[in-house]
Amino acid sequence: MKLEDLIPKSLLPGQDDDAIAMLVADHDRVKDLFDQFEEVKEGRANKQKEKIVADACRELTIHTKIEDEIFYPAVRKAIKDDDLMNEAKVEHDSAKQLIRQLESMDAGDEMFVAKFTVLAEYVRHHIEEEHREMFPKVKKTGLDLEALGQKMMKRKQQLMAPSRAGRAAPPMARKRKANGGRASAAR
Ligand SMILES: [Fe+2]
Ligand SMILES: [Fe+2]
Repeated sequence: MKLEDLIPKSLLPGQDDDAIAMLVADHDRVKDLFDQFEEVKEGRANKQKEKIVADACRELTIHTKIEDEIFYPAVRKAIKDDDLMNEAKVEHDSAKQLIRQLESMDAGDEMFVAKFTVLAEYVRHHIEEEHREMFPKVKKTGLDLEALGQKMMKRKQQLMAPSRAGRAAPPMARKRKANGGRASAAR
């Protein structure tokens, strides 16, 4: 493991300050979590599964928020391809729906593995479209990707800071605490 992997990207000022590089680094991190899940999903390591799912959901929630709030509006204006941007938005909405469902589940739930597997498939497809269609179009515009990246990095730091209104607390842990660690049997 490289040193850069051990330090949260948000703590490395000046790294990934190009908007696309920052998003690609996020994509690599979630794809890595999807691969890790593939390796454990058929086994009994429930705690490990829950940890991977919680980490991926948290990464994805912050990532889609930054794209929805900052990157997509700027791109929509710059590339003038509403069809592409609308499809991306629908894909974000489907992902968010699955994330919300996963946040109220644990690994004992019979749909847990299926939900996360489908989420991973959706997101892999979505990432591929961003890489294959959206990013090349963005690069052809005069969009200031460095300025945009700095704005996005600032927002990411806000979203990741645990002290700020608990916004970045892992959703699963939050929910579990709220209902006293209720197991899925009660559902
Ligand atoms: Fe996206
Ligand atoms: Fe993305």
